Parts: sequence; structure tokens; C-alpha cells
Amino acid sequence: MKPKQPHTWSGPDAQAAKAAYVRSMFARIVPRYDLINRLMTMGLDRGWRRLTAELAQPRDGVALDLATGTGDLAIELVRQGCRFVAGADFCPEMLKAAAGKTSHVSDGGKIALLAADAQQLPFRADTFDCLVNGFLLRNLADLNGALREFHRVLKPGGRLACLDLTHPPLALRPLLWPWFRLAVPILGGLVSGDFDAYTYLPDSLQNYPDAPRLCAMMRTAGFTNATYRRVGAGTVAIHTAAKPQL
Ligand SMILES: C[S@@+](CC[C@H](N)C(=O)[O-])C[C@H]1O[C@@H](n2cnc3c(N)ncnc32)[C@H](O)[C@@H]1O
Repeated sequence: MKPKQPHTWSGPDAQAAKAAYVRSMFARIVPRYDLINRLMTMGLDRGWRRLTAELAQPRDGVALDLATGTGDLAIELVRQGCRFVAGADFCPEMLKAAAGKTSHVSDGGKIALLAADAQQLPFRADTFDCLVNGFLLRNLADLNGALREFHRVLKPGGRLACLDLTHPPLALRPLLWPWFRLAVPILGGLVSGDFDAYTYLPDSLQNYPDAPRLCAMMRTAGFTNATYRRVGAGTVAIHTAAKPQL
């Protein structure tokens, strides 16, 4: 099924079609992915990942970095004292890039990379002390289903921290529109050679819940203490929540 513009999928195969589109799009942009992140965020993305890792309280724990991409959040988790990190992604090309990077960092041996789909995680219930993800949630075909999976694989008392773009506050939208709709597709397209991928990026926010609604969805999935903080002039949110203690 081909996506109708702007990057929306419908019909009985919608979930599989979106997943296939997302996987092949990330496979294409791997070589320039890190560079474009740095350029588009003016280097701020590193601090956002650091904060996301901190909020998950990884010290001495066993963590899952889901949608690890090129591995930056997984590396940040071991830097912050995590005992073991599973870095999972459904895009083999991303995992290859992550393997190259983690082999060069001290404590990279504490990171195990594996292929996994966030919609159906290959882990037993109650496995992880914390679960983090960076720029994953907008890409999911079934966000509610994935949140239930996150809840299932976390131990009671386990922490969830999710970093992703969000809908900016209303007052800022006219100012930010040219950035998202013009600068991002042009800059990303020029540097990666893939204009479609960087048109998908702003499109991916269209059917995505706003920050308070995402908190409500986390609560529905069984999480407690769901909250968020905005960074990046309100364009990015870090949502945190916890699986209740038994
Ligand atoms: C924007 S990249 C983010 C990578 C990394 N977390 C970061 O902070 O840079 C999104 C990643 O999510 C992965 N992804 C998207 N949907 C997924 C799914 N259903 N299961 C596993 N990985 C997924 C993609 O393959 C890609 O590597």
C-alpha cells in the first residue's frame, strides 16, 4: 500500500504499511542521520538524550533503549552507570551503525544490540528497571499497544522516559511553522538526499497526541505519575511515568 499524502495510512493493512515505510525510510537515511540531528537541533539533541537518561534513573539497573537507532541513548545510559542495556531497533541498518559506535566507547560491552519491534517485544514480563526511547513514538502504528508493551516488560516500580517531538504551544506555532514545514525538509533533504524522509518528519506529528493526551494514554496503559517537560522551545517533550509497585 502506498502512503497517501501527507504520509497517512488507512485500511486493513495500515499498521504493517506504516511500519514498512518507517523501516525503509530509516534504512535510507542512516549514513547522515547523526549529522542531520546535530544540524537541526544545533547540537541540543545530546543534552535532551542526557536528560532523558537521567530521568529514567539508570544507575546499576538493567535498561531497554527501544528504537536505539545509532545507539546514542544506549551509550548515555551506560555513561550514567547502567549495569546492562539492551539496545533494540527494527531497522538492521541502524543496528549496524549502532554496533560501529558502541564498539568504540568505554563500557560499550555493557550494551547488547538486537532486532525487535516495539509493538511486540521479545522480552518476558517484568524484565527492565527502566525503558527509554528517543524519537520513536510518532513512528508507531499502534501507540496504545506499544505503551502496553512498555508496561509489560518493565519491572514493578520501573521507570519509563520517552523523548520525542511534540505539538508546540499554540502561541509559538506561527513562528515555528516555517522551520518545520520549510527548513527541516529542505535542510534534511539536501544533506541526506532524501526529501521524502524529511517531509515525513513534520507530517508524523499530524495524528500524534499532544503532550497532555500522551500522559493520559500512559495512564490508560497502566502507568502512574505520568508527566512531561518541554525542551527545545517547546517543540520536544520528555514524558516520564512509572509502572506501579506491587
Ligand atoms: C528517529 S530514529 C531515533 C533513533 C535514536 N533513538 C535517537 O535518539 O536518535 C527512530 C528509530 O526508531 C526505529 N523504529 C521505528 N519504529 C520502530 C518499531 N516499531 N520498533 C522498533 N524500532 C522502531 C527506527 O528504525 C529508527 O532507528
